[in-house]
Amino acid sequence: MERILIEGGVRLKGEVEISGAKNAALPVLVASLLSPGRSVVRNVPRLRDIDTVKTLLSHLGARIEEIDGRTLSIDTSRITSVEAPYELVKTMRASVLVLGPLIARCKEARVSMPGGCAIGARPIDLHLMGLKRLGVDVKVEHGYVIGRADRLRGGRIYFDIPTVTGTENIMMAAVLAEGRTVIENAACEPEVVELARVLEKMGASIKGAGTSIVTVEGVRELRPFDHAIMPDRIEAGTYMVAAGITGGEIRIRNCPLRYMDAVVVKLREAGISIEEGEGCVTVKGDGPIMGTDVTTLPYPGFPTDMQAQFMALMSLSKGTSVITETVFENRFMHVSELKRMGADIRIEGHSAIVRGVERLSGAPVMATDLRASASLVIAGLAAEGITEISRVYHLDRGYERIEEKFSALGAKIKRLT
Ligand code: UD1
Repeated sequence: MERILIEGGVRLKGEVEISGAKNAALPVLVASLLSPGRSVVRNVPRLRDIDTVKTLLSHLGARIEEIDGRTLSIDTSRITSVEAPYELVKTMRASVLVLGPLIARCKEARVSMPGGCAIGARPIDLHLMGLKRLGVDVKVEHGYVIGRADRLRGGRIYFDIPTVTGTENIMMAAVLAEGRTVIENAACEPEVVELARVLEKMGASIKGAGTSIVTVEGVRELRPFDHAIMPDRIEAGTYMVAAGITGGEIRIRNCPLRYMDAVVVKLREAGISIEEGEGCVTVKGDGPIMGTDVTTLPYPGFPTDMQAQFMALMSLSKGTSVITETVFENRFMHVSELKRMGADIRIEGHSAIVRGVERLSGAPVMATDLRASASLVIAGLAAEGITEISRVYHLDRGYERIEEKFSALGAKIKRLT
């Protein structure tokens, strides 16, 4: 199995370019199912999750061509299957995003029920409730969700928790429904707005994306699109934390700073300098790291996808910080691994109390989920000695060429195959 080996203690220096956002690319690629014809998606990151969605779309009958490394052409003229099989849904829960578009285009979808995952139960009840409100007959049989609707009808949908992929799934069904759909307490994440923009390019009518009330007026048909994916705010945040924890200075190109307010405020509070320049953002960590409390929340709050990385930073801070996770029930898998590196962290309910220590020491650790793995890389970059991270495939799901990008910033990091 592949491992990543890091010799810590190098101050990062240099320039890094942020790739396209995984969480924007996934729904946008899936949206191509909504219309027959050839869509083009640019700035697609090279990630395992993207490979999984490509496999899924091909399985459904789409013909995918790589125009260049980052540009994909997806021809959805013929859909030959309406089933997302277990093997694909189990490797990537976001596969459930095909439910809405398949029902809208083919009147039917069979999607394997996702199980639990490392960060909690993660149900899809809100996706299913929303589809039912649009007139879909939903059944769960033999581990599959089967949705059928001869005609989708617009409706009012209230989410009692704002769900990102749930909002996206319903938007993709509603664009081809008859009449108006109103989603209340919709997720406001920038990736939801990106999908709405793409659906508009396809001819859909959507108002309020990026606010908690999204209104969709259904249309009869949509056309293919050409779209370049926005940069990844979580990847950018991860490099910011890495610069701060190593006391380094890096320039981040293609940084989506305007979607990163909560992260920037907290990193500045922790003593890290973040300055916007021409075409890049300079991040510098030259003083002590200050203990800073953080509570994860839906956008525009502090993203749960940055919680683990921020905890690695806080483990080397002066003082005590309280990190509270409110989005997922069990997203502290990285705590026990960080403790193996010398961090002083105690979990109390939904909070982690982090007492800053003087130093971390490199150790063999295991990646448990995508963002937990990123926090171990960050801790390893700052730790004394060697950190060996196993189960690297978690990292490859969401970070493009992570060891190459960190090497270019001076880190001593390599992949062992
Ligand atoms: C998306 C992101 C993920 C991020 C998360 C929260 C993608 C591909 N993934 O995941 O990186 O961590 O948003 O920002 O965009 N919930 C229910 N019932 C449902 C759906 C969700 O109870 O039907 C709950 C979840 O268990 C969780 C909360 O709602 O507690 C938010 O989850 P959600 O926004 O749906 O996360 P994802 O869309 O799966």
